Amino acid sequence: MKIDLLIHSAAQLVTCASPDGPKRGEAMADVGLIADGALAIASGQIVAVGPTADLRADFSAHETIDASGKVVCPGFVDPHTHVVYAGDRANEFELRIRGASYLEIMQAGGGIVSTMRAVRAATVEQLVAESKPRLEAMLALGTTTVEIKTGYGLDTTSELKMLQAIALLASSSPLDLVPTFLGAHAVPPEYKGRTDAYVDLVVEEMLPAAVEWYHASRSTLHAPLFCDVFCEANVFDREQSRRVLEAGLKLGLPAKIHADEFVNLDGVSLAVVLGAVSVDHLDVTPPAEVELLAQSNTVGVVLPAVNFNLGSSHFAHARGMIDAGVALALATDINPGSAPCPSMPLVMAIACRYQRLLPAEALNAGTLNAAYALGLGHKLGSLEGGKQADVLIVNAPDYRHLAYQFGGNLVERVVKRGQVVL
Ligand code: NIG
Ligand code: FE
Repeated sequence: MKIDLLIHSAAQLVTCASPDGPKRGEAMADVGLIADGALAIASGQIVAVGPTADLRADFSAHETIDASGKVVCPGFVDPHTHVVYAGDRANEFELRIRGASYLEIMQAGGGIVSTMRAVRAATVEQLVAESKPRLEAMLALGTTTVEIKTGYGLDTTSELKMLQAIALLASSSPLDLVPTFLGAHAVPPEYKGRTDAYVDLVVEEMLPAAVEWYHASRSTLHAPLFCDVFCEANVFDREQSRRVLEAGLKLGLPAKIHADEFVNLDGVSLAVVLGAVSVDHLDVTPPAEVELLAQSNTVGVVLPAVNFNLGSSHFAHARGMIDAGVALALATDINPGSAPCPSMPLVMAIACRYQRLLPAEALNAGTLNAAYALGLGHKLGSLEGGKQADVLIVNAPDYRHLAYQFGGNLVERVVKRGQVVL
């Protein structure tokens, strides 16, 4: 059979294969390794995966890539980001070094609201221009699919402007971009002390406007639109979070939730009851709620670059979550405040050191399970026949180097939908 591209002779071809859903428990430690492996690609899709000798016999290719001495693995999926924003918050970085906490800075009018001011002042073109280099950096580090949240506009016009920026970026980038509406990211200053009234605005005006925009933009965005909320002390409580997510579900938007980043408000049980696709952060989730999550179809997403960036020695108990059977995923959470980090390999490196994940567990969490955290596990996240050909060629002889080394970039080539884009 004639194919477009054959990648062959990989020292390790790492499939992360799992035909029946996300990986859990002991399966997380298995990356589906094929020594001297090859990958056949046609029309942007994976046709076959196997030993080089077999694929060479079965296929003749228009183009070949010799991956001798290298690792071939799925592109990373980053399932939780706030990568579209304007300005920066380097000043807050310095304030934290001097002793202020993230929540103190937020309560003093900095934090998310400070980025809100910059986003409201920016044109959609400025938002695109500032965000594009960050997406390019992520691609160079091996990320091939990126979820992007709104939530720095916090009024209807500015939230729609953020969605427009995401659609414009999607139409000019090789990456798959997945939009999430996060109008309930913070209470804007004009609603200070009137959180319920702001939730009314989100539910009655912003969400319907976002959905209308989404239906009109279907041609540029080939991904679902999610609805998310920051369920946190002094932000949105459990009941307010429930209102937002239920309103989204009624409009057809699958739910995601920021829960247990600083204070436990039983956000995991809310996520499970609502059938959320993912529940994210989980830094202070008690064991009973980890158990509940493990019994559910909701993916748990941990974001250890946040703890690292905030100089915290406390990390989500991801080891315990895997052992309990949670479908665990990793994400950067790239944003100007809590995690100015574009790198999935760095996140994996932190997860291995501070959360005791094995390199294999970190890789499955950043590929296959991350795709499931976006409801896209059936077509992304692993090297299996029929899936989209999003593939990395890594300049190392062993996949463990992806987490073992850190601070550099081992990603040598990125193949997106069967095309070499880097
Ligand atoms: O996931 N926790 C809420 N949202 C982001 C932080 C965004 C910001 O600080 O600008 C997060 O950590
Ligand atoms: Fe976040």
